[in-house]
Amino acid sequence: MCGIVGIVGSQPVSERLVDALKRLEYRGYDSAGVATIDGGRLKRRRAEGKLINLETRLKEEPLAGSIGIAHTRWATHGAPTERNAHPHFTDGVAVVHNGIIENFAELKDELTASGAEFRTDTDTEVVAHLLAKYHRDGMGRREAMHAMLKRVTGAYALAVLFEDDPSTIMAARNGPPLAIGHGDGEMFLGSDAIALAPFTNEITYLIDGDWAVIGKAGAHIFDIDGNVVTRPRQISMVAAYMVDKGNHRHFMEKEIYEQPEVISHALGHYINFIENRVTAVSDAIDFAKVPSLALSACGTAYLAGLIGKYWFERYARLPVEIDVASEFRYREIPLSPQSAALFISQSGETADTLASLRYCKEHGLKIGAVVNTRESTIARESDAVFPILAGPEIGVASTKAFTCQLAVLAALAVGAGRARGTVSEQEEQALVRSLAEMPRIMGQVLNSVQPKIELLSRELSKCRDVLYLGRGTSFPLAMEGALKLKEISYIHAEGYAAGELKHGPIALIDENMPVIVIAPHDRFFDKTVSNMQEVAARGGRIILITDETGAAASKLDTMHTIVLPNVDEIIAPMIFALPIQLLAYHTAVFMGTDVDQPRNLAKSVTVE
Ligand code: AGP
Repeated sequence: MCGIVGIVGSQPVSERLVDALKRLEYRGYDSAGVATIDGGRLKRRRAEGKLINLETRLKEEPLAGSIGIAHTRWATHGAPTERNAHPHFTDGVAVVHNGIIENFAELKDELTASGAEFRTDTDTEVVAHLLAKYHRDGMGRREAMHAMLKRVTGAYALAVLFEDDPSTIMAARNGPPLAIGHGDGEMFLGSDAIALAPFTNEITYLIDGDWAVIGKAGAHIFDIDGNVVTRPRQISMVAAYMVDKGNHRHFMEKEIYEQPEVISHALGHYINFIENRVTAVSDAIDFAKVPSLALSACGTAYLAGLIGKYWFERYARLPVEIDVASEFRYREIPLSPQSAALFISQSGETADTLASLRYCKEHGLKIGAVVNTRESTIARESDAVFPILAGPEIGVASTKAFTCQLAVLAALAVGAGRARGTVSEQEEQALVRSLAEMPRIMGQVLNSVQPKIELLSRELSKCRDVLYLGRGTSFPLAMEGALKLKEISYIHAEGYAAGELKHGPIALIDENMPVIVIAPHDRFFDKTVSNMQEVAARGGRIILITDETGAAASKLDTMHTIVLPNVDEIIAPMIFALPIQLLAYHTAVFMGTDVDQPRNLAKSVTVE
């Protein structure tokens, strides 16, 4: 996902703009650029690849000026070349953009017909040409900005400079987030509060349809009809979280090891540890009354939802309809307006998840958001927000957000069961006591499994394909293990229900295909052992992730067995997530891939 930053003040800006872009690197990008107004002239520097290349350009040809905008580009239209890198210039206007201008082709034809010369393959360039045309035709800058916003359709976060006004940055938001930062004698603009953290913690989030005129003394905000509006000025807590790697090699490693701490924050928000019960979570959704529950999300968040489905159905006896967000709203699921829908999203900005949320809202459902970013669009558009309190997750591969999502879903499912009378007070207390054990057990596991995992990862890094198997809540976990491995090591991996092995995947089994079996000693264990025997009988190499009881019971000759403590079923997914995260992490480290910013990936996909 692209990143946008802007600064208007009295001090030079280009170095601080690039520093701010570094805090947006986690979003994923493939080129970058900066534009400033210096001596009444718009100037820019752009570079392909990582920010170090842009810094090199700026060392060779520094950019002066106390007003500027900058951008990291994750290519949607046009190759990731310098030519297509933002800012886009034309005729005294500079633009950076996150999102997609859906009617860019029509606008490009119209502008070309009236003499505009396009120099890039991007959709964004039409914005620069429209603004330049309107301004050339006599419109003032504000009028031109408003007219452009009335013409373009699609998703955008925009920052604009007009060469003839070196004191103002124009901004607009419709979809991808955009935040204004309040400084002392200078103002800031950024895609999120993380980018602005070193400058200010006083943040105003624009909402969809807003546009703003930002000067060094402050900002004027307008709605899509041009009416002046006021948006709340809030203190961002992001600055409180040291957004750096500490003594870890990657953000992903840091975030894996943060899990015992952040899980305790998440649990503390939903559990009364004195009375061992789930605290009242929301008056907007009455789980006692809803006839069913819809769940939708993408990627790892979706897999957390799949595990949540098992819990809501088992403990709250609630029928759950779940699908990946990109499919959910097109299935025309018969949804009852009395039902509720939960949307799970670390960023709270994933376009498909947001579109599914709006689909359910149109059908009258009560909306709940399980999110890590309270100021996000998904949170703002929900009736109830269930924060996961994982702290900023910078690594593109989701780890601590996944286990915190699970912890929150487990608490909600137990609370819903209590409210529906399908979980007794004693059962609730026992389940809550198990949940309360998680931080301790996670710490124990993280301190014990690393050496064996590193050894195993060295072997995995030589493989071309890997199969993950699991039953019950270990089945979505098998898919999560496969997703983690493939997205950061680029090794092809698939997660399957172990019972499905004989229905096709067993054809893949040979000595070159490691099979990672996630099997706590639960009610599925014996059946899963049978699956492992089928694999072993065909020369397959088994990596068993089990607990002490499982290790003692399994007589199988495995390539490796990773033994975890015996844990209660409800926390097994969070505990067994740790070795699969570490396995993916260390394999990627051996592969030498860009662990925190894997190729082609963005931290939050704000385009459909
Ligand atoms: C997870 O490792 C991936 N980076 C990706 O699947 C992610 O979970 C997905 O894009 C959803 O993002 P969200 O939680 O911010 O909505």
